[in-house]
Amino acid sequence: MLTTQEQLNNLRLEVQKCTKCSLCESRNKIVFSDGCNNAPIMFIGEAPGHNEDITGIPFIGRAGQLLRKFMFDVGFSKDDFYIANTIKCRPPQNRKPKTEEKEACKRYLEKQIELVNPKIIVLVGSTALESFIQDKKLTISKARGQIFEIDNRKYIPIFHPSYLLRYHSMDEGTPRYLFKKDLEMIQELIKEG
Ligand code: URA
Repeated sequence: MLTTQEQLNNLRLEVQKCTKCSLCESRNKIVFSDGCNNAPIMFIGEAPGHNEDITGIPFIGRAGQLLRKFMFDVGFSKDDFYIANTIKCRPPQNRKPKTEEKEACKRYLEKQIELVNPKIIVLVGSTALESFIQDKKLTISKARGQIFEIDNRKYIPIFHPSYLLRYHSMDEGTPRYLFKKDLEMIQELIKEG
């Protein structure tokens, strides 16, 4: 019987060999995950960007650094989270992932969710939101900060940190203010157990 760690390692090796969509032709590295394998919270972003493609680590570029700064500011520790994306390879010019790319990668993400088994899944931005909550009218601005309970798991959408790079104010009601508020709420839910 393999441990969770071993199963995740095997899955990572499988993804490294993946040729299910054309993104495999342009990738440098697959971007599988970062963080703790039995974390209570899983963050799911859109897709790797340039820095992620070079390093193989999700959310390591400018937007990712901002996300991580906010997370640590509200009190998250390294053991609290696991980070992945809707797809594992960088789309050219950082365009949004195509439906067929998300479909090709879906089983890998589903397996990660099953193995990590987080209490809360944080949907970072509209691409992750659309992948999990099938409601075409639901924008990220409306959905952020809400809790969607699906199959005994909480899904909480938040703004994508790349959106915050354009707005610097922390005043009440601004994107950064709301982002911090959502992360604080998530942190509280984890503390409650
Ligand atoms: N944006 C994402 O959605 N994911 C990353 O890993 C990096 C930037």
